[in-house]
Amino acid sequence: MKKKIIIIVIAILVIFGGVSAFLIYKYNKFDYKKNITIKIGDKIPNTSDYTKYKASKIKWSKLKIEDKTTYYVGEYLGKISYHKKSYNIKLIVKDDKAPEIEVSDMETDFGKDIDILSNVKVTDNSKDKINTEVVGEYDINKSGEYNLKIVSTDKGNNSSEKEFKLTVKNEVVVAPAPSQPASKNRVKTGTTSKGYTIENRDGLYYINGILIVNKSYDLPSSYNPGGLLSSFNSAFGTMKSAASNEGIYLNIGSGFRSYSTQNGLYNRYAARDGYAAADTYSARPGHSEHQSGLAADIKGPNDYLYLNQEWINTSEGQWLNNNCYKYGFIIRYPKGKESITGYIYEPWHIRYVGVDVATQLYNGGNWITLEEYLGIDSKY
Ligand code: DAL
Ligand code: ZN
Repeated sequence: MKKKIIIIVIAILVIFGGVSAFLIYKYNKFDYKKNITIKIGDKIPNTSDYTKYKASKIKWSKLKIEDKTTYYVGEYLGKISYHKKSYNIKLIVKDDKAPEIEVSDMETDFGKDIDILSNVKVTDNSKDKINTEVVGEYDINKSGEYNLKIVSTDKGNNSSEKEFKLTVKNEVVVAPAPSQPASKNRVKTGTTSKGYTIENRDGLYYINGILIVNKSYDLPSSYNPGGLLSSFNSAFGTMKSAASNEGIYLNIGSGFRSYSTQNGLYNRYAARDGYAAADTYSARPGHSEHQSGLAADIKGPNDYLYLNQEWINTSEGQWLNNNCYKYGFIIRYPKGKESITGYIYEPWHIRYVGVDVATQLYNGGNWITLEEYLGIDSKY
């Protein structure tokens, strides 16, 4: 009897223990995935993606969810609870799509800083900060074309790049002041090395009654006769018809040029060729005879030789050189006199001085210059 009771008690204990062990086992076992990896744009996993158990919803920390997904690369911690116990889980958000770059060729003025990135558009599937940079060297103080590229990298380390060209334009600088200050230049008086008196009438220099404009003698910037003077025009008309009687056709390519026109012209040449070179063929503003209304550049029917020294070999060039003095014109910048006039040979540039002086300067075909004739310099 006693034995029987003991067996029953043991049996009850065994059953009870077994049931308890089973229940403890059942409620403590919680099978779940600790990590899940998704890509940007994929649906954020819910509890059933992590476990078959009827656990709680996942509580995420720091995960920004928009439209059931996220646009931010990273690793995020979440918690699931199951039967009052909490379990850590991890969501890994990856990205394998590189940013897209839109960039076109750019240009900037000489010396002008350019914010290249403000002209670049970068788009990406993520909303993370994209690192974008300009790769390559350039110098805004050196004109030229620079081949550069834009490189963009997102937080997932996906990178893309695009090449473009940056052009730094040529330097455009206002004319430098003549080496003599204007004021000093403008009060020049006295006599020349040939004994002529230098007169200043309303800011214009006359020597032996001839208006002088060269590198040493300038015109006021305000001086503007508005066109070629009538003395030039009537002499030119006479010369033109005399020439045409001989089958020679002369036209004015460039006549009067104002101070500001000359300023633009000179600076364009200087930007193209540099000041030193420009000074050999183009006058600085205020120093051009074209501003006087007494000079012009002549061309014949062959336009392609206009302002070309080869023009002297055409019948028009020859005729002008040999006959213009008869009408009061001189070839102002003769060949071989570059160091005296300060300019290269210009067989096309004539200046009206009147028949008497022009004939003396023609000198039987061996042109002398106004500078030599009057005993003056032409220097900045
Ligand atoms: N070409 C002449 C020198 C001028 O610019 O006036
Ligand atoms: Zn000229």
